[in-house]
Amino acid sequence: MKNLPSLSSEFLFVCPNVGSEQALKAELRRLRPNWHLAYSRPGFITFKAVDGRLFGPTVRVPGFFARVYGACLFKAGRAELPGRLEELLDGPEFSTKFRLHVFSRIETDSEAQSFASAAADDARAVLAERFYREAVPVNGDMVIDVVAVCKDEIWVGSHRHYEGLSPFPGGRPMLDLPPEAPSRSYLKMKEALLLTGAPLRHGDTALEIGSSPGGSSYCLLQTGINVIGVDAGRMDQVCICCTGAPWFRHLACQAGDVRLSDLSAPVQWLVLDINARPAIALAQLHHIVSLTSTDLIGAFLTLKINDERTLVQLSSAIRRVRNMGFSICQARQLYYSRNEVFIYCLTPLGLQRVRGSRVLKA
Ligand SMILES: C[S@@+](CC[C@H](N)C(=O)[O-])C[C@H]1O[C@@H](n2cnc3c(N)ncnc32)[C@H](O)[C@@H]1O
Repeated sequence: MKNLPSLSSEFLFVCPNVGSEQALKAELRRLRPNWHLAYSRPGFITFKAVDGRLFGPTVRVPGFFARVYGACLFKAGRAELPGRLEELLDGPEFSTKFRLHVFSRIETDSEAQSFASAAADDARAVLAERFYREAVPVNGDMVIDVVAVCKDEIWVGSHRHYEGLSPFPGGRPMLDLPPEAPSRSYLKMKEALLLTGAPLRHGDTALEIGSSPGGSSYCLLQTGINVIGVDAGRMDQVCICCTGAPWFRHLACQAGDVRLSDLSAPVQWLVLDINARPAIALAQLHHIVSLTSTDLIGAFLTLKINDERTLVQLSSAIRRVRNMGFSICQARQLYYSRNEVFIYCLTPLGLQRVRGSRVLKA
């Protein structure tokens, strides 16, 4: 890698979820045929443009599987890192302050993570005034990414933060699962709320298709949202015991069997999380949208991607969702997802609410 005197590079780094590397490579082969695969490890993939173009910090990676990405600037051991960063950032062209994001390629590699943290502490000691204390950026902020690829191998990159990119180091929100949460879907829902900034209001009602045992429902209830859970499976007591404000109601049936008269309140939000192929899941969603469309603000949808064929069909699945009456459908893989893609949707009414008013914080 050439030592370029700027935040541009011949190489681009991309971090997908571990296990989604093949999906990411396949989608970029299709969407960016000029980007050729270079160095690749689980959770950390680099590309080089065959036409000799450079990647800058404002590069955009299309598709669903890139969690975090940016220009790949240099590789260093711990001892070299502060000096290399100082060299890079001390030029007069970088008068701006940076956010520092430190993470390991694989989150469970605690040795690499503590190595990267120690190296970043060294760098902060030398360059304190160049970095904000807070890691979470606002739109337009420049971020220096310090990625421990393995022990004593740190790759440094840079990206400019924009709305739609995860603001967390490595795209990992690092949330705690409350011990009483009925399932890990709690984390998925919480991440979705944090990333989208969805305009939820106290007293809104969400209908969840595939709610058992209740992780997502519990997360919504904790945010002050009433929930109608649709699932033939049993719901956990932490949801069932919510009878006041917010309240939980269980419809113990398949989504396709729900009738308008079953809905005890106008529904503003839909959540879909069923273990079925996208075509089946969307048919269930379509039925529920037809019952709730008048008041609908938005939806949080999880589609299971179990093979390459489903992956290729994802764009048409998203078009199908849009045709149900949503103006915005943004799809991505969440950090807390596995073989799934998450779609955030807003109706025209939802867009009006985004433009207009005070909303809840997740
Ligand atoms: C991944 S689990 C849902 C996890 C849940 N969202 C949570 O937060 O704990 C998938 C659920 O989808 C339900 N399911 C499958 N097909 C369904 C359908 N047509 N209507 C409603 N629920 C369905 C299953 O019973 C199963 O409980």
